[in-house]
Amino acid sequence: MKLPIFLYGSKVLRESAKEVDPADKDHITGLIADMEETLASADGCGLAAPQVGVSARVLIVDGRELTDAYPYLKDFKRVMINPVVLEESRETCDYSEGCLSVPGIYAEVRRPEKIRVEYLNENLEKVTEDFDKFACRMIQHELDHLDGKMFVDRVAPIRRKMIAKKLTNISHGKISTHYKTKLD
Ligand code: NI
Repeated sequence: MKLPIFLYGSKVLRESAKEVDPADKDHITGLIADMEETLASADGCGLAAPQVGVSARVLIVDGRELTDAYPYLKDFKRVMINPVVLEESRETCDYSEGCLSVPGIYAEVRRPEKIRVEYLNENLEKVTEDFDKFACRMIQHELDHLDGKMFVDRVAPIRRKMIAKKLTNISHGKISTHYKTKLD
């Protein structure tokens, strides 16, 4: 089922999401199916459960639409349940980020260049995996959502001032998108 995406300003996006009980397989499978459908219909490359109003530590990243800019993402898709960052590099890098909950705003964000993540995949198998480049970036962005953080919190203060008015508009629902949105 396609779900509306909660916009910047919604409370659910500022809460720390709850760990998922792996025994609750039906719930997890249903949630992932709904998130995948929602992500595809919004043409996004990543979605975290809080963005559809569900407090659960589940995220999806899908780089397969981004292969023009990043050819190595051709087959890159991950579903992560209860992800934990085990290590992050001291080296950082800058990428422009955007978010389905913050339509129309893109901004450079600095984050660690590489991370190691432990998570359960969609088959509930435990995986430990290293990520770098834009794959790493997509995951870091979604991991933030699970902790109630958003990329606009991390942009440089001067840029933040420039987008302040747009953020206020979004938080009042004054925005048009090709996908269904919601504010709580
Ligand atoms: Ni986002």
